[in-house]
Amino acid sequence: MVAISPPAKVLITGANSYLATWVLKKYLEAGYSVRGTVRSLYKSAFLVDKFANYGDRFELVVVEDITKDGAFDQAVMGVDAIAHTASPFHYKSNKADDLIIPAVRGTTSILNSALKHGSNVKRVVLTSSFVAVFELTTVPHVFNESNWNDASVEAVKTKGSEDINTSQREIYDTLTGARTGAQLQRQGTWVNVAVVAEAHVRATHAVAAGGQRIVTSGPFFYQDFPELGIQNVSRGEPGSTKGLPFVINLETKKAEELLGLTPATPLKDVVAESVEDFKARGHPGFTAQV
Ligand SMILES: NC(=O)c1ccc[n+]([C@@H]2O[C@H](COP(=O)([O-])OP(=O)(O)OC[C@H]3O[C@@H](n4cnc5c(N)ncnc54)[C@H](OP(=O)(O)O)[C@@H]3O)[C@@H](O)[C@H]2O)c1
Repeated sequence: MVAISPPAKVLITGANSYLATWVLKKYLEAGYSVRGTVRSLYKSAFLVDKFANYGDRFELVVVEDITKDGAFDQAVMGVDAIAHTASPFHYKSNKADDLIIPAVRGTTSILNSALKHGSNVKRVVLTSSFVAVFELTTVPHVFNESNWNDASVEAVKTKGSEDINTSQREIYDTLTGARTGAQLQRQGTWVNVAVVAEAHVRATHAVAAGGQRIVTSGPFFYQDFPELGIQNVSRGEPGSTKGLPFVINLETKKAEELLGLTPATPLKDVVAESVEDFKARGHPGFTAQV
């Protein structure tokens, strides 16, 4: 496997997304040149302002539909590496295919474009999700990169997609007091978005990361939020999850060994950043305080 180092050029897909904005920042700060793909330059004008200081090290190109064959043929030309993050992440649909088809076709489309037109491409970093790893379980279990969540694909085929959920909505609802005690007893998984972004950069230049699947998130209980000392959030039953084992556990050994990353930043720091973000966006009725 070949190491890619700055000032190499990286193609970042879905550059306007919540995650990719951080990924862009990390690659630029590390000295790479970046070409971002977006569906709309108008919608992504904030990126041009945000990264104006990087001059010609940063450019945006339009790729309107990532699922089309050849969508990335132009975009991959002249880049040394690809960070493919574009994929729908929403709950507006109850059809699994609305999420799975763009995820799969977007990936095969960019790999085919890289094969045909990306003669300089030496590394592809593909963003996935822990939901591709874990399966629902009632007994504590440790998941790692060898696990694949085939059960949910089957469940969605037979039961529909009511189990598909949104992590940000759950955090927002916990912070606004909209969650019930029973919901707070549930476990979630989390990671700081800045850590995931840094993982993309390190996965680009760490030789040993080539060909590997790498987990970066870890477990928490929603009940932990009021216990972090954050005010005006759903209270639930403080103390009720103390000492309870997590049912879903994720191993992050590979992130540490291959990328030198310790994914577990303190949960309080991550929640505090979310509180500040929601406050800054002026959501009505948002009163959580760190
Ligand atoms: N946020 C999380 O908690 C989380 C957790 C695990 C994994 N991830 C993964 O991280 C990546 C980014 O997630 P995010 O939360 O940052 O999502 P997001 O803000 O909703 O952004 C999704 C990005 O994908 C683009 N996209 C979606 N469907 C597309 C299509 N058919 N053609 C072209 N572009 C398309 C969107 O473009 P538009 O803006 O034009 O729609 C946007 O740039 C995804 O791969 C997601 O699965 C996120």
